[in-house]
Amino acid sequence: MVCLGNICRSPLAQGIMEKYAPNEWTIDSAGTSGWHASERPDTRSILIAKQRGITIDHQHSRQVTAEDFEFFDIIFAMDSSNHSNLIQLAPEESVKNKVRLILNESYPGENRQVPDPYTGGQEGFSHVYELLEEAIQSFLRAH
Ligand code: 4NP
Repeated sequence: MVCLGNICRSPLAQGIMEKYAPNEWTIDSAGTSGWHASERPDTRSILIAKQRGITIDHQHSRQVTAEDFEFFDIIFAMDSSNHSNLIQLAPEESVKNKVRLILNESYPGENRQVPDPYTGGQEGFSHVYELLEEAIQSFLRAH
């Protein structure tokens, strides 16, 4: 699960996927930037997750690495900026097809974006939560 800062959207996506996915899957999140490296998720993400029964406050932000492209089978980008940055970070051509826009799981082919909630209020985080839960449940129904 990848966003820009790895403090707002992708920590929520990680927490939701951990709640619903099979136990044997390895799920993680990272940022295309290292701006918030080692920080905990944004308090507004922690709050909305907690309200839905999900704990994310143990997570730490980190930047995407070249190894992520080898280790993970699927890399979900929250928006098209994350998507294009991931394509640029990909260490080789053959792993670029691992990168997907997460809302194409719930709205196939529409290339919708999970909006960046960082500069807004708590309601933006609720909206992000609903979008991510819908996308992850669509993905899991298909797998
Ligand atoms: P995220 O949100 O990419 O969902 O973690 C952001 C967090 C921080 C910044 C931008 C977006 N920032 O500019 O520091």
